Amino acid sequence: MENYLSTEFRRATPLFLEEARAKGRYRTAQRVFETLTPEQVVDEVKNSGLRGRGGAWFPTGIKWSFMPKEPLKGPSYLVINADEGEPGTFKDRQIMEKDPHLLLEGILIGSFAIRAETAFLYIRGEYKLAHDTLAQAIAELEAAGILGDAAFGTKRKMRIVLHRGAGAYICGEETALLNSLEGRRGEPRPKPPFPAVWGAFGRPTSVNNVETLANVPAILEKGAAWYKSAGTAQAPGHLLFGVSGAVERPGCFELPLGTTARELVERWAGGVKGGRRMKAFIPGGASTGFLPPDRLDVPMDPESLRKEGTMLGTGGIIVIPEGVEIVDAARVFSRFFRHETCGQCSPCREGSAWSDQVVGRFQRGEGRTEDFVLLDAIMRGSKQRTICVFPEAFAGPLGSAVKHFKDDLMAVSARRAAADAGSGAAAHGTASHG
Ligand SMILES: Cc1cc2nc3c(=O)[nH]c(=O)nc-3n(C[C@H](O)[C@H](O)[C@H](O)COP(=O)(O)O)c2cc1C
Repeated sequence: MENYLSTEFRRATPLFLEEARAKGRYRTAQRVFETLTPEQVVDEVKNSGLRGRGGAWFPTGIKWSFMPKEPLKGPSYLVINADEGEPGTFKDRQIMEKDPHLLLEGILIGSFAIRAETAFLYIRGEYKLAHDTLAQAIAELEAAGILGDAAFGTKRKMRIVLHRGAGAYICGEETALLNSLEGRRGEPRPKPPFPAVWGAFGRPTSVNNVETLANVPAILEKGAAWYKSAGTAQAPGHLLFGVSGAVERPGCFELPLGTTARELVERWAGGVKGGRRMKAFIPGGASTGFLPPDRLDVPMDPESLRKEGTMLGTGGIIVIPEGVEIVDAARVFSRFFRHETCGQCSPCREGSAWSDQVVGRFQRGEGRTEDFVLLDAIMRGSKQRTICVFPEAFAGPLGSAVKHFKDDLMAVSARRAAADAGSGAAAHGTASHG
């Protein structure tokens, strides 16, 4: 299957409307608006097996089928999740900065499928360039009459509202995002009710990730059978894999789901930087945790990684070279999650802080074997006891560090304790001689 997500990624400037239309963009959306019914679009996407690329891998067609089918008294909404907060993840950004009309065409088709006339695009506050690029592309669509009171000259109204976030990881969680969009604190909402029943401004809403929607035009253009010809049986299509950290050529690579991490790191990203050995890799963003290099041949798809006790997440691989201690990398993440918990649920608020303190002990050379039991108790005590799955996110790096690198954590802690004792003695010696 040819690439269909990243064709414009090598451009220096974004693909704007005139050129985009010359390349065929909006032909599919126009055909959808003029000739198909919402049910037909939902069925095609269902048949394609497309699953959400925001991290949870829920089937998109099924999510859309939960939306009300009859015309309602009030509006339904499509909300696009462009928060992209997961460390190691930078794929949605590439789409928005380089090929905004690919996303916007997906938004038009998605809105049509769920009978929404308004789409809210919630974009991460730090993504200024992506925001400005999208604002320009939306203005182009308004000027061309593709957005407005008669989309593509049909009776359907369509508008897209851009909304900038203010820089909170939790606002990527779909219900925290909805609260934030409404001007409330970015805290997740209890579910049910799910957004399809009670979403943005209390109306039926589907929240979809940027990359998910960018898959939709190709599915409608070429059909479900074409889409299923790449990827795995349970997770078809291509994924924009990120590879960052200590590699020769960090980047975003479009490849079929099920490609191995080894192929991504060694072939596409040029291997570990400076020819060093790999200490560990993170398969799909910070919350998926560390895997040892002997897992490099595991296919990168949701099912295969679940068997390894981890997740595909956002498909953002981070490579950690020999010479970097796992405890130091784990501490970066434990600090991040401690800072980013919204604090609404005490198991998460306290658990993220306690686990950060325990990792800090190992880092300073004060780790004890009983700390492993403590960490395990903290993680078990926080998971599935909160409104959202944030505790699963901080348990990813910490649980996997203990599972795969326990001896390493103890050895580093002991080494640092010995070094401290040595430098303490030396300092003492100097003082007494002085
Ligand atoms: C703590 C947390 C952070 C999340 N951050 C993001 C994010 O930045 N972008 C995203 O698309 N989904 C994120 N998600 C997943 C969303 O809640 C939701 O599943 C997704 O937007 C649905 O879109 P999809 O079905 O197209 O994947 C996050 C989830 C959690 C629990």
